[in-house]
Amino acid sequence: RPGAQRWVPAEGDVDALRAAAPGCRGCELWADATQVVFSAGPSDARVVLVGEQPGDREDREGEPFVGPAGRVLADALAAAGIDPESVYTTNAVKHFRFVDRGKRRIHKKPGVAHLQACGPWLAAELAAVRPEVVLCLGATAARGVLGRAVRIGDVRGEVLEGEEAAPRVVVTTHPSAVVRLRGKPEFDAAFEEFVADLRAAT
Ligand code: URA
Ligand code: SF4
Repeated sequence: RPGAQRWVPAEGDVDALRAAAPGCRGCELWADATQVVFSAGPSDARVVLVGEQPGDREDREGEPFVGPAGRVLADALAAAGIDPESVYTTNAVKHFRFVDRGKRRIHKKPGVAHLQACGPWLAAELAAVRPEVVLCLGATAARGVLGRAVRIGDVRGEVLEGEEAAPRVVVTTHPSAVVRLRGKPEFDAAFEEFVADLRAAT
């Protein structure tokens, strides 16, 4: 069976998971990426934030949310009164998927097969951290966490039922969607709505 399961240590704590993740060959995304990007933050966090996949900067640095989306996320967390260091941050897919455009690497959304293949890592993280709430950043993250497709507009800000390890799931927009509005009149409202979701979820 394809997927990450055979590389995920049974009963592993977050450090054991992180140590094993570079060996994962659960899908083809490892081959073109620079490195695996696992998670950041305390393994006893109350709140887990799940993004989509690492971006270009994250792929180079090996840390989640260190690029432009991470900047907006940190600003929004601070505005919501949440210490960014207090949350556990990870992604639904742990390797950067991209297409080459000359010198630039353009983000390509992970497919459902990648979400499924990488799902055992996320499940193991949630089982290890046992958070009070999982906040999904965007529809792809939500699909990875919930195992079904949801529309952000339909579920945004609601408390949804998750799995045993993480019974409360809230879905909001992806910070990249806010980044894209920078310099436009819609930016402030989008940022405030994102902050309101962070505040309500935690
Ligand atoms: N976007 C994500 O979804 N995750 C990251 O780690 C960075 C950008
Ligand atoms: Fe393994 Fe996930 Fe990377 Fe695929 S994306 S190789 S399943 S860690």
